[in-house]
Order: sequence, then structure tokens, then C-alpha cells
Amino acid sequence: MPPIPPTGRIDVHSHMLPGIDDGCETIEESIASINLLKQVGYTGTICTPHLWPDMFPDNTPANIQRWTDELAAQLADRGIDYALWTGGELRLDEDVIDWMKTHGVPTLANSRYVLTDFWEDNWPKYVDQAFDWLIAQGYQPILAHPERIGIAKLDTLIEHLDAITARGVLLQGNFRCMTGEDGYLQDQRIRQFLTEDRYWLLAMDMHRPDALPSRLDGMQMVVTEFGQNIVDITTIQRPRTILATP
Ligand SMILES: [Fe+2]
Repeated sequence: MPPIPPTGRIDVHSHMLPGIDDGCETIEESIASINLLKQVGYTGTICTPHLWPDMFPDNTPANIQRWTDELAAQLADRGIDYALWTGGELRLDEDVIDWMKTHGVPTLANSRYVLTDFWEDNWPKYVDQAFDWLIAQGYQPILAHPERIGIAKLDTLIEHLDAITARGVLLQGNFRCMTGEDGYLQDQRIRQFLTEDRYWLLAMDMHRPDALPSRLDGMQMVVTEFGQNIVDITTIQRPRTILATP
């Protein structure tokens, strides 16, 4: 585990590991992404490849730790000063609890925080069951990009978000949703959720360097519309809470 950089932003949701999922394909793409992130003050990234057994069966906490260490070593060899931590983006589905019992719980930077997502147009029961199981085991679930969940009726989505928030689940928003590139609903919802102060974290969810500038634009839009403070709290202060949690 690298030391926590004394200054700078930490990206907590990133598909930077090369050749692992639908993120960066080569180390050159990883380095190009790091160079862009550094320009807006990032000093480190928690690498969170998709944990989605049907699509990426090799992605387990043990392998991701090894791949993160390998990328960190290659950065060090090239004299690139940028901190990397292991993590994962756990796709919630019917089998996710059994999967965690087999492979272990994929935490962010070996903390108790667990980044999750799901892709349904409704709110499946297994989502609540997975959150309840994680909380009962002493973990802190985070739901990634709730503004992207395809539930058409906003009131229904908000009821579910209120319920999981009351049970202790934290929410992470994606900067790019500010730009409209993820869709009109997402563009509206991230602004509403920011207005309602629902996000504990904001992140890039970067995949490849060619799509990173629009994500950086999204961050600038949050600064312009909601102020620098919320960006700094969600990208500097709270990620350090995760990194400092054993
Ligand atoms: Fe992601």
C-alpha cells in the first residue's frame, strides 16, 4: 500500500488497469490518463475494475491486487509519481453474496468500503440483500452513479435511495453525467442529487484517456454550478477517510 499523498485529489472509481476490463487497453493509455488527471490535481487512484463474473471471470480481489502492484511498479520504473490502490466495482446480482463468500469482499484500498453498482431498470431485491449482508459483516457499501439507474420514475428511485441511505449506504456520483453525454435523465438527476447533497463521493469512473476530457469537463461544471467546496470534499477529503480506514 502506498503512503497517502499529503495533497491532491484521489479518484475512487477508475478502470485504469490496462487490459483488465473495458477500461484502458495498454499501459500507454493508463499513463496518458494519469497525465490528464494530474493536470486537475489528482495524485492517486483507487483501481476499480468491474467485478462481473460473466464478463470478466478473472477479476477477483487477489488478481486485482496483483495487477495494481504491477502497474504501480511500472509507473515507478518510469519515474511517474502517482499513487495506486487496489479496489473493484462490484456488480450486484443474484449470486453476488455467494461470489464474495468464495473470492472475498472487494474493498477499496483494503478498507471496509465496498464500491458497488447494478444495471437494471428496476430495483431488484438482491440489491438490498447484498447491502444488508455487507453491513452485517461490518462493511461500508457505496452505490456508484445512482443518477445512471434506469428507473424511469424519479419518485420511485428516490424512495429506494432514501431507504438505503437511511441504512448507511453511501452514494458516489459520476462527473460525466453533468455533461449530458450519459443522457438527459442522468444530466437532470445528478443536478438534483447534488442540490439535495446526496453524494458522499464524486468520481471520474474513467475508462480510456480519449473519454477522460469530458469527465474533466463534468468536474468543472460541478465547480461552476455547485462550488469548489463540494468537489474538494468529495475528491480530496472523503477519499482520505477511506484510505485512512484499516
Ligand atoms: Fe465503473
